[in-house]
Amino acid sequence: MKCKVYMVRVSYDQKPGRRTMMETYGAEVTPSPSNDTKFGKSLLEQDKQHPGTLGIAISEALEDTVTHDDSRYCLGSVLNHVLLHQSVIGLEAQKQFESIDVEPDIIAGCIGGGSNFAGFAYPFLGEKLRGRTDIRFVACEPKAVPSTTRGTYTYDFGDTAEMTPLLKMYTVGHNYVSPPIHSGGLRYHGKAPSLCHLINKGYVESVAYHQNEVFQAARTFAQTEGLIPAPETAHVIKYVIDEAIRCKERDDDKVIAFNNCGHGLLDLKAYEDFQAGRLVDYEPASIQVENYVN
Ligand SMILES: Cc1ncc(COP(=O)(O)O)c(C=O)c1O
Repeated sequence: MKCKVYMVRVSYDQKPGRRTMMETYGAEVTPSPSNDTKFGKSLLEQDKQHPGTLGIAISEALEDTVTHDDSRYCLGSVLNHVLLHQSVIGLEAQKQFESIDVEPDIIAGCIGGGSNFAGFAYPFLGEKLRGRTDIRFVACEPKAVPSTTRGTYTYDFGDTAEMTPLLKMYTVGHNYVSPPIHSGGLRYHGKAPSLCHLINKGYVESVAYHQNEVFQAARTFAQTEGLIPAPETAHVIKYVIDEAIRCKERDDDKVIAFNNCGHGLLDLKAYEDFQAGRLVDYEPASIQVENYVN
């Protein structure tokens, strides 16, 4: 079976190692927006250097699928069933905590579409909803794409070409062109509906960070733990370090667990840019989200 990947152009350029890995496994990788779809072509006609977004890559993959009889589409995050599929992570973490007779006080993760955080958190959250624990849940996102911290809770499309059904979620709008931060996996305009519902009801808190402070935290983590995290993961590491310092100052003994969702060995160029002072902190001045329901 042939595997075709529409990879967001900015990630295609920033992360050639990821592209090479997929090609090594046999995938055909196309930078998105591309000339392979009508939608991609229309965007390139307006801007040859379009950086792409996850919403645009989803639109191109969907167009490719519906115009080829032998194609099937596989989504990595955002839809609720994908979050449930990832819950194997949290189920295993629960068993690990049980085996050492420890209960976490705080569960944290970074959010792109929401699946790695939810996969880790939902089994524990189930226990909270049943009134059996009082764990705090914290989701971390970039200030450059602040879906849950500054976005609107409304119905929006999951992709830029408006091919998906409307999803109720926190969104910065499906036309938002996410700035070219190095955390390509967090450049998605919305978040999974079930996660947004939990945020809206106050079961999950969310926080946002700039990429320079995030890379600083990643460097601290690398120097103390020996592991270089992915830039996406570094968002939750920033939160965890800050929270641990707050706990220390308050003499508060807390167990903080986070999902270490990726290593940064394919992102060393991003670390190089950070160390050379070349990273820009982006934040939208204002956010416009269209209302699709009355
Ligand atoms: C290393 C890493 N962490 C986190 C994410 C975002 O994950 P999710 O969509 O599950 O929130 C991505 C997405 O590509 C990623 O590559």
